[in-house]
Amino acid sequence: MSQRHKIILDCDPGIDDAVALYFALAQPEIELLGITATFGNVPAAQAARNAIYLCTLAGRQLPVCEGVNTPTRKIGVLPDAEIHGADGLGNLPERRRDTYPPDERSAARFIVAQANAHPGEITLVAIGPLSNLTQALRLEPRLPALLKQVVVLGGSIAAPGNVSPVAESNIWYDPHAADVIFTAGFQLTMVGLDAAQHMAVPLALFERVAAQHRHPATDLLLHAARFSVDYYARLDPALARQQACLSHDVLAVMFVLRPELFSTESGRVRVATEGLAEGQTIMDRREHVLYPQAGWEEHIPRIRVCLGVDAPACLAWLESSLMGNWLPAPA
Ligand code: RIB
Ligand code: CA
Repeated sequence: MSQRHKIILDCDPGIDDAVALYFALAQPEIELLGITATFGNVPAAQAARNAIYLCTLAGRQLPVCEGVNTPTRKIGVLPDAEIHGADGLGNLPERRRDTYPPDERSAARFIVAQANAHPGEITLVAIGPLSNLTQALRLEPRLPALLKQVVVLGGSIAAPGNVSPVAESNIWYDPHAADVIFTAGFQLTMVGLDAAQHMAVPLALFERVAAQHRHPATDLLLHAARFSVDYYARLDPALARQQACLSHDVLAVMFVLRPELFSTESGRVRVATEGLAEGQTIMDRREHVLYPQAGWEEHIPRIRVCLGVDAPACLAWLESSLMGNWLPAPA
């Protein structure tokens, strides 16, 4: 096997975060160094508890580091419990108690320590607000050179937003952090709603996985998926007809392993941090700049943006991965 991908998953589990984590655990090509938890779908402490719980069910004791619980500058808002449940995992009916404690390091310190220990080797996959990565950048200004790449699930260029007409949730929760990260010079790819809006995962997929691969972890995914399908059915008649839910986050992990499944463009991306467009990711897709404007200077780094995805291939890959032999016998 060629060199495995060293990954840190920065997340706010979150139902689709759980799918992304389990997909990552099912990939032999991925060496998951640890998980950093951020506020977003749930408060940071609950996100850390959920990440630990998900790892425990999957028989893994990965380091989980609690991160920031408030946005970089804007006033924080409480998540809508309708989307991921009050507990972040679809209001689980019960929880096992044999979990393990969070790592004593903060998310930012863990990211910096790992980046310095493995310079140029780590991919940071960020599937929540970008507050932890911003704090890590403040701690270690060399981070863009120390990390191999950053893949962000967030934003939207041409597709409608999911929090406002133009804003996607992860960016909207901390727009100042996103604007810092998108212009800091990371080797960065943004997987936004332009791609993620096509990742509608039928409940039937999770039913097949739970039936064929009997395990508490696949049962949890099925429970959480049912909750998510019910939410999206109230939101979108097409998803109601398909009995499907949008599972955005897994695409960021998939991009790391198979970027060829995505269509991308490169350009400068800035983030609106206030007003009607708060949280909008704005991309300069022009060939030539006739009238240079403040905030769009030539020196601002370009990032790669995913504008499309082979969703059927990703769906098939998700199912085959979860069906595979990636879980130890239940404890
Ligand atoms: O807009 C989708 C993103 O917001 C996903 O990361 C989901 O988990 C929520 O955090
Ligand atoms: Ca998320």
